Amino acid sequence: MRIILILFVIYELSSNGFCEKFRFDNYSLYKILPTTDDHIKVLQDLQNEDPYLDFWKDPTPKVPFVMVLSSPDKKPKLENFLSQHGMDFEITIPNVQENIDKETVREYTRNNNGSMSWDTYYTLDGINNWIAQLINQYPNIVSGIVGGYSYEGRPILGIKISHGPGRRAVVLEAGIHAREWISPAATNFIANELLSSDDEMTKSAARDYDWYIFPVTNPDGYVWSYKEFRMWRKNRRPIGVHFGVDLNRNWNSNWLRFGASTNPISNTYAGTGPFSEPETRSLSEYLRTIKDMDYYLSIHSWGQMLLVPFGNTTEPLDNYHDAVNIGRRAMGALSVRYGTNYTTGNIAEVLYFATGGSDEWVKEHLHVPFVYCYELRDSGEHGFLLPPEQIRPTGEETLDSIVDLLFQARRFGLVSSSGHVKVSLLIMLTSILMLSVI
Ligand SMILES: *[C@@H]1O[C@H](CO)[C@@H](O)[C@H](O)[C@H]1NC(C)=O
Ligand SMILES: *[C@@H]1O[C@H](CO)[C@@H](O)[C@H](O)[C@H]1NC(C)=O
Ligand SMILES: *[C@@H]1O[C@H](CO)[C@@H](O)[C@H](O)[C@H]1NC(C)=O
Ligand SMILES: *[C@@H]1O[C@H](CO)[C@@H](O)[C@H](O)[C@H]1NC(C)=O
Ligand SMILES: [Zn+2]
Repeated sequence: MRIILILFVIYELSSNGFCEKFRFDNYSLYKILPTTDDHIKVLQDLQNEDPYLDFWKDPTPKVPFVMVLSSPDKKPKLENFLSQHGMDFEITIPNVQENIDKETVREYTRNNNGSMSWDTYYTLDGINNWIAQLINQYPNIVSGIVGGYSYEGRPILGIKISHGPGRRAVVLEAGIHAREWISPAATNFIANELLSSDDEMTKSAARDYDWYIFPVTNPDGYVWSYKEFRMWRKNRRPIGVHFGVDLNRNWNSNWLRFGASTNPISNTYAGTGPFSEPETRSLSEYLRTIKDMDYYLSIHSWGQMLLVPFGNTTEPLDNYHDAVNIGRRAMGALSVRYGTNYTTGNIAEVLYFATGGSDEWVKEHLHVPFVYCYELRDSGEHGFLLPPEQIRPTGEETLDSIVDLLFQARRFGLVSSSGHVKVSLLIMLTSILMLSVI
């Protein structure tokens, strides 16, 4: 009898209440300034040796700074290590838990009367309730779509906004990395503007395309990030004694070639094979069914970068020049409202060599003309813990840039109504303009 009772207690503890939300008390964020190739090398070794040091910005060649989150007990060793190698550093956030406490995560229920607040983050149920309500509110324009399923069986819900047949498609994929909360939040803001804005350019962007919008493509990870562990990035599949695959290293494009790990404890663990994860496998199958896709936008944070494929080379492949030209102009449009400064370029030249991402698979296998990865705000001050008061401005400026992207590609005839991509017409036009100026 006593044994049964004990077993029961153990069962109870492990099934509920046992896993308390992880606290980051006195965890500090370090900004490290490497100045030599050797500094980069030893930081890379450190990263490989200690998977529990959470690198928010990786030590890749030529980065101006590296960011690391350290637990209180590792701080003396880390500081010692940096001093020994002659690297300057500063602690930019002394106690990360204080920043986490400033983030609010709200439910969204029917009482919200049809409007999300843009000064708070929402739970997965909250976002899905809002989606359900949009479908009711705009029955002729909005339909619910299911992009696939997660490991734990949650649907990857999204909306399709369509003002009629015959339109070409724009896809927004957000929240594939769980802790990048601004990604779903800004994406929801954009979806809401597409449905309710009075701005003529926004209205025409909304009307002229079919929009497929997935705010949370890693639902298990997202839930884990606000219920249990704020800094979670991967999905939640158990791999031996560890958990999770980096869903943006698991796509079947140059899988495991660069910037990914074979170690399940790593934040960039690529999985047991290309498309080993239900999320990436099912979402890719859904994407294959979308006809006439002109734009695929994968929304991440942070770093203020607009990236184009591919991540295996700095060579300008495919329509690189058009994509970067259009992207740069769109980042000009993005900066108008609040002066937010983005860097534009190929993944490998701007960020690091990395492969197996959704954007690369979409470019390689679906041949979509304009594929971009956004790394939203900020440039390191708050990193993944972007204060909720920045949700609205981030959404506004990002939408400005998307509207501009669509406008430019059409203006320069790079995507026509038949979807035929005209090679380098933009460059020709630019050259003609420059010649006439001279
Ligand atoms: C965090 O550090 C402060 C100052 O050193 C200390 O007083 C406090 O007890 C620490 N908090 C936790 C939860 O360890
Ligand atoms: C929603 O609308 C109802 C009826 O108009 C009102 O009574 C209620 O206070 C509103 N709730 C919120 C959260 O605004
Ligand atoms: C990089 O990947 C792309 C897409 O798979 C491929 O076409 C290209 O040949 C690769 N380049 C190098 C240098 O590996
Ligand atoms: C924008 O960022 C680039 C690259 O990081 C930098 O060279 C430039 O000075 C920045 N511009 C402004 C206005 O901050
Ligand atoms: Zn990301």
